[in-house]
Amino acid sequence: MDDRGTFPHFMIKEIFEQPRAVRDTAMGRVDPNTGRVKLEGVHLRAEDFEKFRKIRIAASGTSRHAGIAGRYMIQELAGIPVDVEHASEFEYGNPITGPDELTIVITQSGETADTLGALRLAKTRGSHTLALSNVVDSTIGLEADAVIYTHAGPEISIASTKAFDAQLAALFLLAVYLGEMRQTLTAEQSKYWISELLAIPDKIQSVLTRDPECSALAERFYKYDDFLFIGRGVHFPIALDGALKMKETSYIHAEGYPSGEIKHGPYAMIDEKLPVVAIATRDKSDAGAVERQQRTLNNLKEIKQHGGHVIAIGTEGDQEIEDYADYVVYVPPAPDLLSPLLEIVPLQLLAYHIAVRRGVDVDRPRNLVKSVTSE
Ligand code: BG6
Repeated sequence: MDDRGTFPHFMIKEIFEQPRAVRDTAMGRVDPNTGRVKLEGVHLRAEDFEKFRKIRIAASGTSRHAGIAGRYMIQELAGIPVDVEHASEFEYGNPITGPDELTIVITQSGETADTLGALRLAKTRGSHTLALSNVVDSTIGLEADAVIYTHAGPEISIASTKAFDAQLAALFLLAVYLGEMRQTLTAEQSKYWISELLAIPDKIQSVLTRDPECSALAERFYKYDDFLFIGRGVHFPIALDGALKMKETSYIHAEGYPSGEIKHGPYAMIDEKLPVVAIATRDKSDAGAVERQQRTLNNLKEIKQHGGHVIAIGTEGDQEIEDYADYVVYVPPAPDLLSPLLEIVPLQLLAYHIAVRRGVDVDRPRNLVKSVTSE
């Protein structure tokens, strides 16, 4: 008997395993008393991190979306410039890299050929390399100079869910670690960020109780053939992955877009046939986050004026958002940099429930494999 347990599909089982995946990925790597982060497998000294003038992230699919969120986390907490690249395009950019750069490759399987190719090229050009992998002793994990394993457990469903949330947690840990190494974070600040990360698994558990709401939304929208997902800042890669989940599992054309960009073209597509899913959470303790959300609400106002349907992901306690959206799925309050670990869950559930209603083989969607081992 396969170990789906009582779940009808691996995808929904793995979505419900995310509290444990995030908890286990943080486990043993943080000292909750001091906020100090310990990353076994990363044998680079403070002075090594000191001399890195840039970080480059290369990855594919959902792992690249995690990399984009990691960029916001690392630039915010450690102040190192970060570029994120499609692993499949890496070699074509003739990457100018060397010993004063760190190349991070992110991969669930640890075997994706494009990502392995990017790792090997970065190494030949003298860059330090660090891998994030969910499979211990995977090729990429063994070939990189340093490795951080995510502990999401085996991921069977082709669409990546729990490995993504574990990657976000691992990248957040890395950002705090770099911030400590480069002294851009005080001990107090590290302690604050680590305590907020350790609170995330319970908050994910609470988001999972909104599964029936997401199923009801799927019942409302499963016949639509196009979706637009929007998000701003660290929320933009969540819009990208929400769209990818919809494509992978439901064969629906879906696009992820920075909220601010939609007025430069995509507004033309808005009508009653295009549901718009907006990441519009609000960390009211962060003035910048409040400002960003306000701008997204302005987008939603225009989308409604153009006849669009709006599904918003909002923060519990924020009633104002109901004036701008037809449907709101609430997630618990969290710092702006960490709320992506909550926001992705309703998007995964929506894609899953739509796929089931469209009769798709949710765990084995057509034309896809779990790890693309040829370039
Ligand atoms: C695809 C999977 O084959 O590869 C995606 O269907 C995944 O879910 C992508 O995100 C990248 O895989 P990996 O293992 O390198 O993260």
